Parts: sequence; structure tokens; C-alpha cells
Amino acid sequence: MLNEAIRTDIANSVLCWLATVDVDGTPNVSPKEIFAAHGEDRIVVADIASPQSVKNLRANPRACVSFVDVFRQRGFKIVGTASIIAPEEAAFAVVGADLLEMAGADYPIRHVISIKVERVSRIWAPSYRLFPDRTEEERMRAVYANYGVTPVER
Ligand SMILES: Cc1cc2nc3c(=O)[nH]c(=O)nc-3n(C[C@H](O)[C@H](O)[C@H](O)COP(=O)(O)O)c2cc1C
Repeated sequence: MLNEAIRTDIANSVLCWLATVDVDGTPNVSPKEIFAAHGEDRIVVADIASPQSVKNLRANPRACVSFVDVFRQRGFKIVGTASIIAPEEAAFAVVGADLLEMAGADYPIRHVISIKVERVSRIWAPSYRLFPDRTEEERMRAVYANYGVTPVER
């Protein structure tokens, strides 16, 4: 379910956006930097400072996560059902292993939000439809210019 294209865009996305709803159906969305694919069908997100997301998911586990590679102007939207894993549970260190490494000791993780993926859709910037013949390099050059970014060699 989580194919290479999804894993690549996760690796190249600075943030994801986690959307939840409260008991009254009011939507809530907030950015999370510490997130990863886990196994074949889960997205895991670190609750470091996300009390409303956790509260909402406890009441209604439906979640949507989106992320985009801003330089390639593409990403994914993933809908699923979340479970909240607390540090005292055995699964915390296993399911949250990548998150714990990414966050490090300075950013303690209060819960692992583990989302079982049910539906995946692609996000493309409109330029893919409007300028389908552009190469990836041309797209990235246009984005660097728009954002005033000078890429460094890595
Ligand atoms: C760049 C950036 C990265 C963030 N990464 C995370 C994160 O990985 N985990 C987290 O819990 N909060 C993270 N936050 C903070 C939450 O987005 C913020 O505390 C938010 O208000 C939580 O809202 P919520 O309780 O509705 O989830 C990040 C914020 C920013 C601006």
C-alpha cells in the first residue's frame, strides 16, 4: 500500500499536515515534522506538542495526513484510522522507532499516532496539468526562482 513514490515524497517533505475532527465535527489541522512510513500500511506521527489532535483522535480515530515535496510540487493525501500509543505500551518503542530517532532526546514524544492507511490519493500542483512537458529539473528551477531559494550541493 505504501509504495516507493509515497516513501520518496515522505522523505522529501519537510512537514505533514494532520487533520482530525472533534466530537462536534469541527475540523482541526496542524503541521508535524516528525512523521514516517511504518511497515506496509501505516503512517506514524509524533505527538510532541499536539494535544488537540490526540484528543480528537481518541474521540474519533478518522484522520487525514497530507504532505508535499515543495520543490517537486507533488505529494499525497492519505486517509485512515488512527490509534494512539502511549510510552508505557510495548508497541511504543517498536512502532515509534523511526520517530524516536528523528526527534532525538531534545524533543520527547508523548504519544505515537499510528494511522492505518485506507485511502491514498495523489497531490499534483496545477503546473503538472498546465505544463505537462516540463522536466523535473525545469519544474524545480521554476520553484527555486519563485521561492527565492538557491539550492546547495549535498
Ligand atoms: C515546523 C513545525 C513542525 C512541527 N512538528 C511537530 C511534530 O512533529 N509533532 C508535534 O506534536 N507538533 C509539531 N509541531 C507543533 C504543532 O503543530 C503545534 O503544537 C500545534 O498547535 C498542535 O496542534 P494540535 O494540538 O491541534 O495538534 C510543529 C510545528 C511547526 C511549526
